[in-house]
Amino acid sequence: MITRHLLDKIQTLPPSPFLSLPITLPPSPFLSLPIIGHLYLFKKPIYRTLSNISNRYGLVVLLRLGSRRVLVVSSPSIAEECFTKNDVVFANRPRLLIGKHLGYNCTNLFWASYGDHWRNLRKIVSIEVLSAYRLQMLSATHLEEVKWMIGGLYRNQNQVVDMKKAFLELTLNIIMRMIAGKRYYGDDVSDVEQAQRFRAIHAEMYTLIGQTIIGDYVPWIKSRKMEKRLIECRVKRDSFMQCLIEEQRRVLESDSCGERKRTMIQVLLSLQETEPEYYTDDIIKGLMLVLLFAGTDTSSSIMEWALSLLLNHSEVLLKAQKEIDEYIGPDRLIDEADLAQLPYLRSIINETLRMYPPAPLLVPHESSEECLVGGFRIPCGTMLFVNMWAIQNDPKIWLDPKKFRPERFNGLKGARDGFRLMPFGYGRRSCPGEGLALRMVGLALGSLIQCFEWQKMGDKSVDMTERPGFTMAKAQPLKAICRPRPSMLKLFSQPSLVFVTFWWGLGAGGDMQCHASTSEASFSLLSVYLDLLDMGDKKHSKKGVDFTVEIHTLCYSLNH
Ligand code: HEM
Repeated sequence: MITRHLLDKIQTLPPSPFLSLPITLPPSPFLSLPIIGHLYLFKKPIYRTLSNISNRYGLVVLLRLGSRRVLVVSSPSIAEECFTKNDVVFANRPRLLIGKHLGYNCTNLFWASYGDHWRNLRKIVSIEVLSAYRLQMLSATHLEEVKWMIGGLYRNQNQVVDMKKAFLELTLNIIMRMIAGKRYYGDDVSDVEQAQRFRAIHAEMYTLIGQTIIGDYVPWIKSRKMEKRLIECRVKRDSFMQCLIEEQRRVLESDSCGERKRTMIQVLLSLQETEPEYYTDDIIKGLMLVLLFAGTDTSSSIMEWALSLLLNHSEVLLKAQKEIDEYIGPDRLIDEADLAQLPYLRSIINETLRMYPPAPLLVPHESSEECLVGGFRIPCGTMLFVNMWAIQNDPKIWLDPKKFRPERFNGLKGARDGFRLMPFGYGRRSCPGEGLALRMVGLALGSLIQCFEWQKMGDKSVDMTERPGFTMAKAQPLKAICRPRPSMLKLFSQPSLVFVTFWWGLGAGGDMQCHASTSEASFSLLSVYLDLLDMGDKKHSKKGVDFTVEIHTLCYSLNH
């Protein structure tokens, strides 16, 4: 160990002008302790510690974290080098315990090493799940869920609302509907027992995923307790996901849903019929899991940071409202097609992604062979952290980086602004959910700006402290008070918004089922609607104020 330490030291010395030494390793903090290496330097949040280390030792730093060699990059041009010239070399992921236990032994899209298997999974997701065509087909569902959220806030106007919860539930519902046609959050959930199981599993996984496991870096320290929790969680989650697959298999066998309405599980089960050896249930479960956990907390956290920033900067909120009012007006709600015409709203999202990137170190990569980065030699098997938080908040790169100034993105050249803004990563392993994330965030934020006046709790600014961890989450959940904007009251009284207080779900045999637990007035409204639209074969059964209506027509039309 001492020899290795000394060898590392020799290799990291700057090249001598007198001797022609081999290309050196990047600089490293001098004191690397036996067994733990540089782990002693670590304080949370990790991206801040790494940024301090880079300020001292350089924009390319090599650390030894226990048994792992870790390259930390904090410059746009070096990040570009990693994801262009060396993109294939760094396209692997390190094998971490979380990937082993919750990522199907590192075989799902998120944790799989680069190669044919990963390429195939990535192709399926890009074409069958997250393509522009699929997202377009789902835009009505996204809007419906946003209307649900707005309906809930409208009912709780002038009261303190937990926006962290509202955003997380919104994204979980959107993604679960995409995966299995189910929604598990909100007042009107069709399968309450299933929803409760899902919520418990999600809450447990959410806590586990956010934790750094010391055993990943120091294998001698067995993280038995943690591994036990991971395994228990995997077992529960697996049986839950399998139930969903069986349920969707039955729906598919009855073949009553058209191509446009297919859920992700149904699409993958259809592919299973032609290639059963490849599209196994485990592959399907792996993809379900990846979308749920890569797509929900990231998107909801950016919504929460963005609204917090707007509450602290009322002038920006007013400017965004003006943009939406001028383009959309008070007679209809913003929809996804409007987003391209709202550059200021997009700048607010960019500025939030710059200041609070949900994955501040991206996701760790690992090199599959020796390569050169910034003129330094990087050995095979080195883990790579690109410190996007440091790059995006560096005063040498951004003017007044601590200031929330969406205007800095006026006329942005290219989405990444020359590798200075890369919250979704770049290259082969970049985020395939960027399009969906921007749609969800844009629609949710745009609707909240359009519909409500917002108020902080008390006179103090919203606390912007980050919670320690690998991901960037707010330490204190955002709580705020909202009331409908007077100009939008007309829209709130429109039946289409009242109507979303009902839950639409895909019932057995492909019928649309509507469950509502609501007032007499809403029941009459629903009946009028069904009559107006001449829904044909319909059964109304009224049990006090709870009822179920089965209809044989696509009901989405009701919202348009
Ligand atoms: C604001 C929201 C989001 C942010 C900031 C974000 C960011 C990222 C980042 C930084 C990576 C890793 C890039 C790298 O390794 O260099 C990533 C990977 C990934 N993201 Fe996202 N993401 C978001 C939303 C989503 C959504 C909505 C989905 C899908 C539903 C998604 C699916 C994935 C997947 C599957 C990967 C792994 C790709 C691979 O390893 O090949 N993400 N994301």
